[in-house]
Amino acid sequence: MPRSDENRDTMNRKQSYNKIYESDNFFGYREGIYFPYIKAVLAAGRVAAGSTVLDVGCGQGFVANLLRKCGMKVTGIDISDTGILSARRVYGRLGIEFLVGDINTIGFDRVFDCVFTRSLSLYNIDDFPTSRGITAKLMKYVKPGGTFIFTYNTNLKTS
Ligand SMILES: C[S@@+](CC[C@H](N)C(=O)[O-])C[C@H]1O[C@@H](n2cnc3c(N)ncnc32)[C@H](O)[C@@H]1O
Repeated sequence: MPRSDENRDTMNRKQSYNKIYESDNFFGYREGIYFPYIKAVLAAGRVAAGSTVLDVGCGQGFVANLLRKCGMKVTGIDISDTGILSARRVYGRLGIEFLVGDINTIGFDRVFDCVFTRSLSLYNIDDFPTSRGITAKLMKYVKPGGTFIFTYNTNLKTS
Protein backbone atom coordinates (compact mmCIF):
# COMPACT_ATOMS: atom_id res chain seq x y z
CA MET A 1 0.00 0.00 0.00
CA PRO A 2 1.43 3.47 -0.86
CA ARG A 3 2.62 5.43 2.18
CA SER A 4 -0.01 8.21 1.79
CA ASP A 5 -2.85 5.61 1.77
CA GLU A 6 -1.29 3.95 4.82
CA ASN A 7 -1.22 7.28 6.69
CA ARG A 8 -4.83 8.05 5.72
CA ASP A 9 -5.89 4.59 6.86
CA THR A 10 -4.13 5.08 10.20
CA MET A 11 -5.77 8.48 10.74
CA ASN A 12 -9.23 7.11 9.89
CA ARG A 13 -8.74 4.25 12.32
CA LYS A 14 -7.58 6.58 15.05
CA GLN A 15 -10.67 8.76 14.58
CA SER A 16 -13.11 5.88 14.65
CA TYR A 17 -11.51 4.34 17.75
CA ASN A 18 -11.42 7.72 19.44
CA LYS A 19 -15.17 7.91 18.99
CA ILE A 20 -16.03 4.47 20.35
CA TYR A 21 -13.58 4.69 23.26
CA GLU A 22 -15.37 7.70 24.74
CA SER A 23 -17.18 5.30 27.06
CA ASP A 24 -14.97 3.07 29.25
CA ASN A 25 -15.00 -0.66 28.38
CA PHE A 26 -16.66 -0.07 25.04
CA PHE A 27 -16.40 -3.77 24.13
CA GLY A 28 -18.16 -4.82 27.36
CA TYR A 29 -15.37 -7.23 28.33
CA ARG A 30 -15.90 -9.43 31.37
CA GLU A 31 -12.93 -10.49 33.44
CA GLY A 32 -14.38 -13.90 34.34
CA ILE A 33 -14.29 -14.89 30.69
CA TYR A 34 -10.99 -13.33 29.64
CA PHE A 35 -8.73 -13.91 32.64
CA PRO A 36 -8.51 -17.72 32.20
CA TYR A 37 -7.91 -17.19 28.49
CA ILE A 38 -5.02 -14.76 29.01
CA LYS A 39 -3.52 -17.03 31.70
CA ALA A 40 -3.67 -19.96 29.29
CA VAL A 41 -2.12 -17.99 26.43
CA LEU A 42 0.80 -16.87 28.63
CA ALA A 43 1.31 -20.41 29.90
CA ALA A 44 1.30 -21.79 26.35
CA GLY A 45 3.91 -19.17 25.41
CA ARG A 46 5.92 -19.98 28.57
CA VAL A 47 6.01 -16.33 29.57
CA ALA A 48 7.12 -16.26 33.21
CA ALA A 49 5.76 -13.90 35.85
CA GLY A 50 7.93 -10.81 36.06
CA SER A 51 8.43 -10.63 32.29
CA THR A 52 8.14 -7.35 30.45
CA VAL A 53 5.22 -7.39 28.01
CA LEU A 54 4.35 -4.88 25.31
CA ASP A 55 0.63 -4.99 24.48
CA VAL A 56 0.35 -3.52 20.98
CA GLY A 57 -3.01 -1.93 20.18
CA CYS A 58 -4.03 -2.19 23.83
CA GLY A 59 -7.17 -0.09 23.29
CA GLN A 60 -8.74 0.77 26.65
CA GLY A 61 -6.31 -1.42 28.56
CA PHE A 62 -8.57 -4.30 29.56
CA VAL A 63 -6.20 -7.07 28.42
CA ALA A 64 -3.14 -5.11 29.56
CA ASN A 65 -4.62 -5.22 33.05
CA LEU A 66 -5.16 -8.99 32.85
CA LEU A 67 -1.52 -9.39 31.78
CA ARG A 68 -0.59 -7.36 34.86
CA LYS A 69 -2.76 -9.58 37.03
CA CYS A 70 -0.75 -12.53 35.72
CA GLY A 71 2.38 -10.89 37.14
CA MET A 72 3.68 -9.21 33.98
CA LYS A 73 5.29 -5.77 33.81
CA VAL A 74 3.10 -4.26 31.15
CA THR A 75 3.46 -1.44 28.65
CA GLY A 76 0.39 -0.82 26.49
CA ILE A 77 0.47 1.24 23.36
CA ASP A 78 -2.38 2.41 21.18
CA ILE A 79 -2.86 4.98 18.47
CA SER A 80 -6.10 6.18 20.06
CA ASP A 81 -5.43 8.92 22.60
CA THR A 82 -9.03 8.57 23.83
CA GLY A 83 -8.42 4.84 24.39
CA ILE A 84 -5.24 5.52 26.33
CA LEU A 85 -6.93 8.22 28.44
CA SER A 86 -9.62 5.67 29.32
CA ALA A 87 -6.94 3.04 30.10
CA ARG A 88 -5.09 5.45 32.36
CA ARG A 89 -8.32 6.49 34.06
CA VAL A 90 -9.37 2.90 34.84
CA TYR A 91 -6.02 1.09 35.29
CA GLY A 92 -3.47 3.90 35.49
CA ARG A 93 -2.74 3.55 39.18
CA LEU A 94 -1.91 -0.14 38.95
CA GLY A 95 1.59 0.27 37.57
CA ILE A 96 0.87 -0.26 33.89
CA GLU A 97 2.59 2.12 31.49
CA PHE A 98 0.17 3.35 28.81
CA LEU A 99 1.51 5.17 25.76
CA VAL A 100 -0.17 6.90 22.86
CA GLY A 101 1.58 6.04 19.61
CA ASP A 102 1.51 4.49 16.19
CA ILE A 103 3.44 1.23 16.37
CA ASN A 104 4.55 1.80 12.76
CA THR A 105 6.52 4.88 13.67
CA ILE A 106 7.11 5.03 17.45
CA GLY A 107 10.65 3.60 17.54
CA PHE A 108 11.08 2.12 21.04
CA ASP A 109 14.54 2.36 22.58
CA ARG A 110 14.02 -0.95 24.38
CA VAL A 111 12.92 -4.50 23.74
CA PHE A 112 10.52 -6.71 25.71
CA ASP A 113 10.49 -10.31 26.93
CA CYS A 114 7.17 -10.65 25.17
CA VAL A 115 5.27 -8.70 22.55
CA PHE A 116 1.58 -9.46 22.76
CA THR A 117 -1.10 -8.38 20.37
CA ARG A 118 -4.80 -9.11 20.24
CA SER A 119 -6.98 -8.11 17.30
CA LEU A 120 -4.63 -5.34 16.20
CA SER A 121 -6.29 -3.39 13.36
CA LEU A 122 -3.09 -3.42 11.31
CA TYR A 123 -3.78 -7.08 10.56
CA ASN A 124 -7.11 -6.18 8.92
CA ILE A 125 -5.64 -6.49 5.45
CA ASP A 126 -6.59 -8.51 2.41
CA ASP A 127 -3.25 -10.32 2.25
CA PHE A 128 -3.47 -11.27 5.95
CA PRO A 129 -2.71 -14.98 5.33
CA THR A 130 0.57 -14.25 3.52
CA SER A 131 1.78 -10.84 4.71
CA ARG A 132 4.63 -10.77 7.17
CA GLY A 133 5.15 -7.00 7.16
CA ILE A 134 3.31 -6.11 10.36
CA THR A 135 4.72 -9.06 12.26
CA ALA A 136 8.26 -8.13 11.18
CA LYS A 137 7.69 -4.64 12.64
CA LEU A 138 6.45 -6.04 15.94
CA MET A 139 9.27 -8.59 16.16
CA LYS A 140 11.80 -5.74 16.34
CA TYR A 141 10.63 -5.19 19.92
CA VAL A 142 11.01 -8.81 21.08
CA LYS A 143 14.20 -9.57 23.03
CA PRO A 144 16.42 -12.27 21.53
CA GLY A 145 14.93 -15.54 22.80
CA GLY A 146 11.72 -13.74 23.77
CA THR A 147 8.14 -14.50 22.84
CA PHE A 148 5.72 -13.08 20.31
CA ILE A 149 2.05 -13.73 21.07
CA PHE A 150 -0.46 -13.06 18.35
CA THR A 151 -4.17 -13.60 18.91
CA TYR A 152 -6.85 -12.69 16.44
CA ASN A 153 -10.50 -13.73 16.12
CA THR A 154 -11.10 -14.75 12.57
CA ASN A 155 -13.32 -16.85 10.39
CA LEU A 156 -10.63 -17.16 7.73
CA LYS A 157 -10.39 -20.69 6.42
CA THR A 158 -7.15 -22.56 5.88
CA SER A 159 -8.12 -23.68 2.36
C1 LIG B 1 -10.09 -4.27 17.74
S1 LIG B 1 -9.19 -3.13 18.75
C2 LIG B 1 -8.44 -4.27 19.91
C3 LIG B 1 -8.07 -3.60 21.20
C4 LIG B 1 -7.49 -4.53 22.26
N1 LIG B 1 -6.27 -5.18 21.83
C5 LIG B 1 -8.50 -5.56 22.69
O1 LIG B 1 -8.20 -6.76 22.60
O2 LIG B 1 -9.56 -5.16 23.14
C6 LIG B 1 -7.80 -2.68 17.70
C7 LIG B 1 -6.86 -1.64 18.33
O3 LIG B 1 -5.72 -1.43 17.49
C8 LIG B 1 -5.36 -0.05 17.64
N2 LIG B 1 -4.48 0.37 16.54
C9 LIG B 1 -4.79 0.45 15.22
N3 LIG B 1 -3.73 0.86 14.51
C10 LIG B 1 -2.71 1.05 15.39
C11 LIG B 1 -1.36 1.48 15.26
N4 LIG B 1 -0.86 1.82 14.06
N5 LIG B 1 -0.58 1.55 16.37
C12 LIG B 1 -1.11 1.24 17.58
N6 LIG B 1 -2.38 0.82 17.77
C13 LIG B 1 -3.17 0.73 16.69
C14 LIG B 1 -6.72 0.65 17.62
O4 LIG B 1 -6.69 1.98 18.08
C15 LIG B 1 -7.54 -0.29 18.50
O5 LIG B 1 -7.50 0.07 19.85
